[in-house]
Amino acid sequence: MTSTRNFEAYASWHESSDSQMKYMFYKTKDGSPSVSMGNEYSRTELMHSTDGAFSETLYLYEPIVEFVANQCSNYTFLSVGLGLGYVEMMIVGYFLKQGIFDKDRFRIFSYEKDGSLKSFFYSFFLGDKVPNLFYDTYTEIINMYAKHYVIAVHELKEAMKKALLQNNILLLSDFNLSTSVPEKVQGVFFDAFSAGTSPELWSSEALDHVFNQCDTPCALATYASRSDLKKALHRHGFELLKKQGYGGKKHSTFAQRY
Ligand SMILES: C[S@@+](CC[C@H](N)C(=O)[O-])C[C@H]1O[C@@H](n2cnc3c(N)ncnc32)[C@H](O)[C@@H]1O
Repeated sequence: MTSTRNFEAYASWHESSDSQMKYMFYKTKDGSPSVSMGNEYSRTELMHSTDGAFSETLYLYEPIVEFVANQCSNYTFLSVGLGLGYVEMMIVGYFLKQGIFDKDRFRIFSYEKDGSLKSFFYSFFLGDKVPNLFYDTYTEIINMYAKHYVIAVHELKEAMKKALLQNNILLLSDFNLSTSVPEKVQGVFFDAFSAGTSPELWSSEALDHVFNQCDTPCALATYASRSDLKKALHRHGFELLKKQGYGGKKHSTFAQRY
């Protein structure tokens, strides 16, 4: 994730005059869309790297899906920060491509504190009305995954709809210290905003709480590489693999526990 300074939004959308929530839409360098959120007083960083939201997601998080598909008998994921749903669409695309899209075998517990992001994502795949900018954004993302995994767009969309209806993907509210994920997870996408924007998710206590949700084996990835994150992973018996960051960042994190 990168600061949005010097990076111009091409459009914005207001939630309503009551909530003042404003979503600003950006095109990242690989052509894929990203968003920042906020009001007239403060705005979050962009959700993804300016170098490429789509490429960043594949680089950082696809190895988690591979790990789970290859090493685990259950496919249970924790996604902290649904955002635009890049991670969720990637998992379903990957499973379809590998021929392992099996309704009994995978579950994604996807946490998002912004209610509109959850409801637009759900509505888009269910065929209900969503604001045009969100409709276009999800459409672009799903098209990119269909191309990447060489599957038909309608097949991927239908699989997403099924996964949401059958509770393979569960859209849940904010992740906090009292959150208990209903099942132990084998793959974690820790893709919350940075410690500057969401400090509550990066404290040692919060990190311990995330790692307590993990099964063995388990793999976890995040764009960040903070020393307290590494210490917490070691405390929980994870091995850290060296991984460069995306888009000019020095390091990112991929950790695994067997
Ligand atoms: C970097 S974006 C996630 C991008 C996303 N993974 C994707 O694939 O598009 C971070 C998201 O985390 C959400 N968020 C922030 N704090 C949260 C919390 N405590 N629990 C759940 N979601 C949170 C934000 O609203 C934002 O949508």
